[in-house]
Amino acid sequence: MKPLLEIKNLHVEVGGKKILNGLDLVVDQGGVHAIMGPNGAGKSTLSYVLAGKPGYDVTDGEVLFEGDNMMAMEPDERAARGLFLAFQYPLEIPGVATLTFLRTAFNAQRKKRGQEEMSVPDLMKRVRDIAATLDINPEMLRRPLNVGFSGGEKKRNETLQMALLEPRLCVLDETDSGLDIDALKVVSDGVNRLRSPKRAFIVITHYQRLLNHIVPDVVHVLSAGRVVRTGGKELALELEATGYAQYQSEAA
Ligand SMILES: Nc1ncnc2c1ncn2[C@@H]1O[C@H](COP(=O)(O)OP(=O)(O)O)[C@@H](O)[C@H]1O
Ligand SMILES: [Mg+2]
Repeated sequence: MKPLLEIKNLHVEVGGKKILNGLDLVVDQGGVHAIMGPNGAGKSTLSYVLAGKPGYDVTDGEVLFEGDNMMAMEPDERAARGLFLAFQYPLEIPGVATLTFLRTAFNAQRKKRGQEEMSVPDLMKRVRDIAATLDINPEMLRRPLNVGFSGGEKKRNETLQMALLEPRLCVLDETDSGLDIDALKVVSDGVNRLRSPKRAFIVITHYQRLLNHIVPDVVHVLSAGRVVRTGGKELALELEATGYAQYQSEAA
């Protein structure tokens, strides 16, 4: 079986500054990979490049999604193929109710895949069922997307979106940032329920704490725009003990 995602020698510049520097990464179907690394290593940059955010120039290397050149796909095509990104700082959209946003995203993807739109009552039911598992008050779904949501509510809302869209590859960028321990548990449980042989995860985090809840199959260390080490889940514990100093000096 082809890997779900294969990144080979990826070089990326942002505003003329080189940020990813020969990054290699292979994620198999259903794998849960953690990417850890010091601040400024390029973790968020990697997630933005995967999503197709404008302004990120790929100067060398390639990214294959099930063998197809992902960099040639428009962002909406990537999403329709099953890419989902949960951002470190979820966007606030004043004037767009959360439920409207969810419905629009959901139906846009179905359309792109050549599927019929889901009826509003069916979709509402599905959203409500998922919301209940994430301790999301249905009242919150009527509020504008992420506006005035607490850090925990934003992350739970992202998890709701992810569960609704049933992606093949979920990239979670610092999902733990700004979460207290209770919210962390709700979000992690939500993610764990979505684990499946048909769905892979890239869990980006600075801290080991999240990986106590979402236990990865593989851990990678990113430093200065490259994967400098790959290991099992025990690598996260080792990093917690030693910190990133050795990787920072390697990169310098
Ligand atoms: N738009 C940008 N313009 C210039 N430099 C940027 C931009 N975005 C990120 N960088 C720089 O790229 C490096 C990697 O950033 P980032 O990917 O956010 O790291 P991480 O998520 O690992 O903390 C940092 O040095 C950061 O300052
Ligand atoms: Mg980041």
